[in-house]
This record gives sequence, structure tokens and C-alpha cells, in this order.
Amino acid sequence: MPAVEQGIIIKSAQEIALMRTAGKLLAEVLALLAARVRPGMTTAELDALAAKELEARRVTPSFLGYRGYPAHICVSVNEEVVHGIPGKRVMKDGDVISIDAGLVYKGFQADAAVTVGLGKVSPVAERLIETTRQAIAAGIAAARGGARLSDISAAVQETVEHRGFAVVREYVGHGIGRNMHEEPQVPNFGPPGRGPLLRPGMALAIEPMVNVGDWRTVVGPDNWTVSTADGSLSAHFEHSIAITEGDPDILTAL
Ligand code: MF3
Ligand code: CO
Repeated sequence: MPAVEQGIIIKSAQEIALMRTAGKLLAEVLALLAARVRPGMTTAELDALAAKELEARRVTPSFLGYRGYPAHICVSVNEEVVHGIPGKRVMKDGDVISIDAGLVYKGFQADAAVTVGLGKVSPVAERLIETTRQAIAAGIAAARGGARLSDISAAVQETVEHRGFAVVREYVGHGIGRNMHEEPQVPNFGPPGRGPLLRPGMALAIEPMVNVGDWRTVVGPDNWTVSTADGSLSAHFEHSIAITEGDPDILTAL
């Protein structure tokens, strides 16, 4: 039986080491996808590349078949927030492309996402992507032993709203380990100083989703693709991290 504190599984140093290997393999795949994504490519072609790269590393794609999800990665374009199913959509110059991927290595999950602008993007798109990058950095910086869970949430929200954008409420980050989704939920909004105390050995997926306009979202007819309700652009970054005695350990860093 794993150690559990406040409902959150505490991983051993050995388990965290496996999660770091899982994370590094995922970081390699995501970096490759972000470097290769091009105008004129379909989102299905990007998924095929992901499938090939995951297979080359002998790891299991965790999204494929998850609650019936039909692809290896999620590709969310422009007003799409998360969970975009790869398909015939052709990506074009100026698009904002969020790529979310997950894998299992030796029984441990890694989950991460990046957003890239294709070619020449608008100033607001550029600012959105940069803000979301800063928001995840602020969230990770707050994820320290002795802090409270909602210190992460508050740091993300403050970074986003200070820059005039909105943070999605209906989808949140999560604990991660042998399962993709473990306790606790990690909201990207809310007051600081609430929720469980963060302890070394806890592993969290921190994943701000940021909209140019309103925070509200809608789910499309495929029952997966989440888009902004107002049609405004959205960006998403995600890292799996571990709480330590010192600085947070970014498991999905290269
Ligand atoms: N990265 C997503 C998450 O954190 C997982 C995508 S849902 C799936 O929940 F269906 F694609 F797996
Ligand atoms: Co996640």
C-alpha cells in the first residue's frame, strides 16, 4: 500500500526517479512535435508522428483508449482549449496549436502540453502564449514543500489576470502517478493558503488553460473538443512535477 497523506499518494524517491524518466521521454516527444508542426499539416498527421515517436521509445500512449479517446495526443487549434481530436483539420500560418500528450513508462504516467504559434501569429496570440508560459512557471514556483495546494492556483490566476486574460475554470490540473488522474484536483484559480499542505513525494500535473476573452468553455459535437464559449483564442501548457524539500522537480522537462 502506498503512503497517503490528506488523500494524496506520496511517492518514494525510486518511484519519482521512474516518473522523471517517463517525463523526460514525454518531453522529448513533445519537443519534437512542437518543432515539426507546420502550416499545411493536418492534426492527424501530427498524431501519426506522435504515435511513431512513442513507439520508438517503447512507451505506452496513455490517452489512446482513455474513456474511449481515439488518438495518441490532443491537438487544440485556436479557439479550441483542450481535448481536440486529431483529424482532417489543416493547420495554417498564424494558428495557435496546443499539443497535449501522455505516456506510461514502467507503470508511471507522464502528462504534459505545450502551445506553439505557427509562422507569423498576431500580437495578441503571441502575448497569450507568453502569458500562459509565465502562468505555468508561476504555478510551478509556488509548488513547494510546506506551501498549500491553492498557492499554486492563486499564482496562476494572478499571473493570467494581471495580463488581462482569463483562466479556464471547468478543467483543472491533477495529481499523477500510477494513474493519469489522482487526487488532488489542481485548479488554476482561487485564493491562496487553502487545501492540503504540499509534501515531498507528491506529484502534480499543473496545467493552466488561458483564454483571450471569457473563461467559459463549450464541448463540441464529438463530445471531446473543448472550445472557448466566445470563440476567442486559447493556450495550454502542462508539466508533471514533484514536490521536494527544495525547488520543485519538473519531471517533464527535457
Ligand atoms: N492531459 C489531459 C489531462 O490532463 C488528458 C487528455 S484526456 C485524453 O486530463 F482523453 F486525451 F486522454
Ligand atoms: Co493533465
